[in-house]
Amino acid sequence: PAPGWSIDADVVIVGSGVAGLTCALRCTAAGLRTVVVTKARLDDGSTRWAQGGIAAALGDGDTPEQHLDDTLVAGAGLCDETAVRTLVTEGPDAVRRLIATGAHFDTDPDSGAIQLTREGGHHRRRIAHAGGDATGAEISRALVDAVRAQAVEFIENALVLDLLRDAQGHTAGVTLHVMGEGQHDGVGAVNAPAVVLATGGMGQVFAATTNPAVSTGDGVALALRAGAEVSDLEFVQFHPTVLFLGAGAEGQQPLVSEAVRGEGAHLVDADGVRFMLGQHELAELAPRDIVAKAIMRRMQEQGAAHMYLDGRHFGADMWENRFPTILAACRSHGIDPVTEPIPVAPAAHYASGGIRTDLHGRTTVPGLYACGEVACTGVHGANRLASNSLLEGLVFAERIAADLVEAAGRTPGVPTEPATVLPLIAPDARHGIQQTMSQGAGVLRSAQSLGDAADALEAVHLGARHDAAGSGKSAEPGVESWETTNLLCVSRVLVAAAQEREETRGCHWREDHADRDDAQWQRHLVVRLTDDHR
Ligand code: SIN
Repeated sequence: PAPGWSIDADVVIVGSGVAGLTCALRCTAAGLRTVVVTKARLDDGSTRWAQGGIAAALGDGDTPEQHLDDTLVAGAGLCDETAVRTLVTEGPDAVRRLIATGAHFDTDPDSGAIQLTREGGHHRRRIAHAGGDATGAEISRALVDAVRAQAVEFIENALVLDLLRDAQGHTAGVTLHVMGEGQHDGVGAVNAPAVVLATGGMGQVFAATTNPAVSTGDGVALALRAGAEVSDLEFVQFHPTVLFLGAGAEGQQPLVSEAVRGEGAHLVDADGVRFMLGQHELAELAPRDIVAKAIMRRMQEQGAAHMYLDGRHFGADMWENRFPTILAACRSHGIDPVTEPIPVAPAAHYASGGIRTDLHGRTTVPGLYACGEVACTGVHGANRLASNSLLEGLVFAERIAADLVEAAGRTPGVPTEPATVLPLIAPDARHGIQQTMSQGAGVLRSAQSLGDAADALEAVHLGARHDAAGSGKSAEPGVESWETTNLLCVSRVLVAAAQEREETRGCHWREDHADRDDAQWQRHLVVRLTDDHR
């Protein structure tokens, strides 16, 4: 649809989590006219749901080099070492600047030093946390307050549709569908020579996920339609310990942070046996993919729908003070972690891949940047190390802002027609896509399961094309149909990448190719859609 209104900016930032708001604060402070657009409210993204914390070498005796080592091991041979080095060396100061912006982390009452915990894959205590287990909520609060205090321009309830480009192919802005925001209501455009995608993840492609409802892969879908390169989409991280609410539970599920294991909770099976002992030197604190796989294996062996996380030995005080969010979530579902083990099972949590960028967040489309979960900077490889995601958002947002300030002064080109793909997919396809993805491309994958998923997704795609060809119409344009279109788009690419990678590595687990195959597969799968496939 043609934009009904438009505004001009130097930079438009899509998304309002740690990446988007950090970038917005830095750009605005440097005098760039910055407009943040966000799909729901400013604090509705994934950042506010982060529990465990933010990893950085802040503790005595810890060093960026040790953080680098742990990150590379978790990434299972596919991290970009230069990107990881950038992350871990710039990370500590980026966290200090976040504190200067107003975020309050938990500190030791005597020394005043930041308290640090452990999580899977970390050989040291290096995870800073806030409000016990409400780290993301505090970071989000601080950044939203700062954005308001700095009078950064923003538009809420704005679903990004497509990238605008000029005749030379340079970014010229984005089109949006805005719901009920006064003068910016309906379909409109922000014209700008630079666009930063910070739209977060795509957990909603699966039936059960820790991600909020807004995480529908919009940024990756936009980038694919715009011809940008996307990499590593097969590496979806399944968090090992998500509160088990029943086999049919769908949508966002409550997370039980790795920090609970970091503080000493045990994973036990249906017989009360600690099954991680002897499986890895770090036992329950092995990297996330190893723990998720061990849980799935034990569930299969025992024919169980979940395992248990036992933190009864913490006692009531520790649960109340250190993990108030998790305690409340469990109790609201009738489970009391103080007196009983918590039923847990893996669920989709984090996209380790995304839109391919360089060390300044630049994608392969001139003027288009990506930051945070939507991006693939190379720091996560085949499996993100716990609590590196907030850090990545912080560090790379600042790098993007610096690049934008350096390039400032470019006037936006005249946008040509946006490349929105028709037909749109009707919202009633959403549930089927999510079921298909969980069954065929979940924790355990095989050629058969992935082939079935690919066929089912193709049928939805072809069905919509067929309907459009027959009636000349696609689904009614609206947020739900655009989201469903995006879910289908990213699901098809994810499944194709997972089919292609015939090995098991990091969080990509192929039952039919059980081993890591460095000779063949120590490389990335990079996708760029051509006109025929958009
Ligand atoms: C958690 O608290 O377990 C989540 C941390 C992360 O995903 O990095």
